[in-house]
Amino acid sequence: MINVGVLGATGAVGQRFVQLLADHPWFRLTTLTASERSAGKRYRDVVKWRLDVPFPETIGDVLVSPTSVSSLKDVDIVFSALPAEIAKDVELACAGAGLAVCSNASSHRMEPDVPLVVPEVNPDHLALIDLQRDRGRDGFIVTNPNCSTIIMTLALAPLCGFGFTDIRVATMQAVSGAGFEGVPAMGIYDNVIPYIGQEEQKMEMETLKIMGKYENGSIRPAPFQVSASCHRVPVLDGHTMAIWADVREPVEKVKEAYIRYTPPISGLPTQPKESIHYMDEPDRPQPRLDRNRCNGMTVSVGRIREGIRFIAMGHNTIRGAAGASVLNAELICSRKYL
Ligand code: A2P
Repeated sequence: MINVGVLGATGAVGQRFVQLLADHPWFRLTTLTASERSAGKRYRDVVKWRLDVPFPETIGDVLVSPTSVSSLKDVDIVFSALPAEIAKDVELACAGAGLAVCSNASSHRMEPDVPLVVPEVNPDHLALIDLQRDRGRDGFIVTNPNCSTIIMTLALAPLCGFGFTDIRVATMQAVSGAGFEGVPAMGIYDNVIPYIGQEEQKMEMETLKIMGKYENGSIRPAPFQVSASCHRVPVLDGHTMAIWADVREPVEKVKEAYIRYTPPISGLPTQPKESIHYMDEPDRPQPRLDRNRCNGMTVSVGRIREGIRFIAMGHNTIRGAAGASVLNAELICSRKYL
């Protein structure tokens, strides 16, 4: 077993890390950190645990540590669910101290020597880890993309063989993506908020890095344009998105590509039986009905129409955040980077 810790373990994504790691076959969760407000207290006493998710009793009595390298002495992998502005320095310090950092924070995603990985889409980008090591870092940082970007890039993976020059996307994003205190109830009920800070830029930039080509120690960005419009809707979990991909192929051929899709990875515990689930029903996927497919790790795709236009939906805090990061850590272990 490999000892692991979670930075920012009390937050909306931190909780999902704890949920996924409490009973993991390869990783033993030993350390939970949060702000000074929570440090020194029992996890069960400080976390505002989601009522609709069973609480992992085995972790409840762990004392929360302050967020610093000295709290992480007995761990080899640390998962980061910190706010980006806090994550930046803390993650660098952890990597400098020899830890493998699997981060959900945005701070280091676009750095040229930091892999930005969706295991089913670009597992070969992990080779950038060698660059970080060549530069004298004992450990390394690997990041997963923004929640909407993960769902979209995975949904686009089966289309890569067709080639495309232009992607447009309009998202309908759940409130859990904004963190526990993120969206006031009085602001989101009976409403749609047509703005999520930095989300459109993240989708537009991160997609090109993830779907780019690893060549001689760097990533050549994908040669297409992404244009995004992002919106917050009163859904608890599950980001839905309408995607227009410039693919000039018959609808039936595209559907077939989804049905036949097999990812380039295997044998990872958090990997879902189906990374992408194609749905033929005219009114699916829907967040309430489809977000928990394969423990929240499957992206559901449907309504494929001429163009190509389609709908993709995935669990934003599992597939789009904590689950993505845990899957990255499993990939790192299976490819012997640790
Ligand atoms: P705490 O619960 O003690 O405030 P969310 O994204 O849901 O708001 O969660 C943010 C996470 O990051 C929480 O675990 C929070 O801990 C932690 N956090 C926030 N600010 C700091 C800080 N300055 N130093 C360390 N951890 C922090």
